[in-house]
Amino acid sequence: MLKSIQWKILTLFLLLVVSVMLVVGTFLLISISKYYHDEFCTQMETVVFSRDFTDQLQAAAGETQGELETLLDTYVGRMGIDSYRNYYILSGTDGRVLYAPDGSTAVAPSENVLTALSGEVGSRVDRRSSVMDYAYPVEDGGRTQYIIYISDTKEELYGILENIFTIILWGLLLGLFLAVFLGLILSRMITAPLLSLKKRAEKLAAGDFDGKTEVKHNDEIGQLTGSFNTMAAELRKTLFDIAAEKNKVETVLTYMADGVMAFYRDGSVMHINPAARRLLSLGEEGEPFDRLMERLSVGVSMNTLLYLEENNTVEKTITLDNMHIRAYFAKLTPEKGPASGIVVVLQDITEQQRLDDSRREFVANVSHELRTPLTNVKSYGETLMESAAEGSMEKNFLSVICDEADRMTRLVRDLLMLSQLDYGHVIKKMPFSLPKLSESVVKRLSLEAEKNNQQLTFTNKAPDMPLVNGDKDRIEQVLVNIVSNAIKYTPKNGMVHVECAARLTEAIITVTDTGIGIPEADLPRIFERFYRVDKARSRKMGGTGLGLAIAKEIVEAHGGRITIKSGKGKGTSVRILLPIYGGGEEAAEL
Ligand SMILES: Nc1ncnc2c1ncn2[C@@H]1O[C@H](COP(=O)(O)OP(=O)(O)OP(=O)(O)O)[C@@H](O)[C@H]1O
Ligand SMILES: [Mg+2]
Repeated sequence: MLKSIQWKILTLFLLLVVSVMLVVGTFLLISISKYYHDEFCTQMETVVFSRDFTDQLQAAAGETQGELETLLDTYVGRMGIDSYRNYYILSGTDGRVLYAPDGSTAVAPSENVLTALSGEVGSRVDRRSSVMDYAYPVEDGGRTQYIIYISDTKEELYGILENIFTIILWGLLLGLFLAVFLGLILSRMITAPLLSLKKRAEKLAAGDFDGKTEVKHNDEIGQLTGSFNTMAAELRKTLFDIAAEKNKVETVLTYMADGVMAFYRDGSVMHINPAARRLLSLGEEGEPFDRLMERLSVGVSMNTLLYLEENNTVEKTITLDNMHIRAYFAKLTPEKGPASGIVVVLQDITEQQRLDDSRREFVANVSHELRTPLTNVKSYGETLMESAAEGSMEKNFLSVICDEADRMTRLVRDLLMLSQLDYGHVIKKMPFSLPKLSESVVKRLSLEAEKNNQQLTFTNKAPDMPLVNGDKDRIEQVLVNIVSNAIKYTPKNGMVHVECAARLTEAIITVTDTGIGIPEADLPRIFERFYRVDKARSRKMGGTGLGLAIAKEIVEAHGGRITIKSGKGKGTSVRILLPIYGGGEEAAEL
């Protein structure tokens, strides 16, 4: 309570009054005391011991003491003698009292008497002493005969000071009373609006935005109240905007077809939208992250997700009751500080998967069905060609038919290969030596390179490379495709280099050429099926645009990667990275 503004103001007022009264009182008392002393001195010097009186005193010095007494008695009125003041005749030799109208026989020892004994006028006023006196030496023949001594007990002064002190005390009491009264009024004036502001702030904190605090005066507090009202209005608007925004987000989340789930760092549920509930058959409460992932057999943990790099996502496919769901995991990062949790977006890809499956099935069926008629076309064409006359139009037409049949056969073969890879059927793994395989591929294709006058070279930088566990025929197919691409897309007199190396647990085959290169814009799509940079040119070269797509599928089916670096006119470098098996020397000859 003593900390309240009211008490502070009150205390300040009281201190102010007390200090003002103290200063005024002390000043008044000192001034009055000074005036009284000064007045005594003035009266002694100018009124009592005036020239005419001192002359008479000096004249009476030679006479008897009786003469002096009579003289003094006549001057009593002028000397201002009253109940507090008295006069004495002292001996000029030892200060003894010779005559005292009040009958005293001795006077209090005084510095002024000593001064007078030495022949000077003793007029010093000691403010601290209880007596005020004046000693006048009366000389005769250069010797102090008598001392006229006047002394004042100061009781009159004390009486006056006491009266003034009492007045000051009453003034102080009245001042204190007024201070309390005015202080209370002032503090009430200040604290009343502050208290109503406080009440309003409490209401705001509790979410009650209604009402407005009245601005009564245009002083600082009035301005504060005005600012507070503005702030409350702004706050209300901002909260309203946030609520509206939240509402929008919530509506979007509620009605969106994709599932969205958010989890806190400890795995507890932050939010789950209805689509996610439906997709994963979750109850109203949801399920903690780890338990949910275990139930869905998804191999991700909260810890790995929280330490994902910025803007990175983890993608997983969940199969649940004949449903295929693609899940994207990302961390929730606030503006500052570590991730606050993770978010999971779920996409129902069942329909897409079904369409993909039927597309694959269709391609597989069509390519399979096309094989027999194509073989027939080719064999009948060849038979006819044998009997056609050399250089005749029939022979030419039949040759085109046979070439096209060959191309279609290759296409059908590639398509079949792709659909088999899609079904994951064709990979039959066994350990084999990758450098040896690469070298044999280089040898096989060297004839083709020679035809183009190209230099096809091979380096084995990892002679001790352990065996690679994989499908030798399929890897060979990949190498043939990559190396023949390099030969195909490198002009005459160019160079193609194949290098075999190993790094940690990976075998690396790099095929580099000095050919026409691939424009950077085409690089991201180069592994797509049927994607060719220059369609006319590739077709002329007998390409179908499936080679790299097949290579990628095969390498990835082995747990490896394939990357390509190129630029228009800068040559191309393709890298195949495969995990090393390390199966021992006995398998090296396989
Ligand atoms: N070494 C290379 N230099 C320049 N371009 C290349 C190279 N390798 C591939 N390409 C480009 O990439 C495209 C796709 O290659 P891909 O091997 O998939 O198809 P293709 O060689 O045309 O046909 P296929 O290999 O099916 O007979 C090619 O058409 C060609 O434009
Ligand atoms: Mg190719």
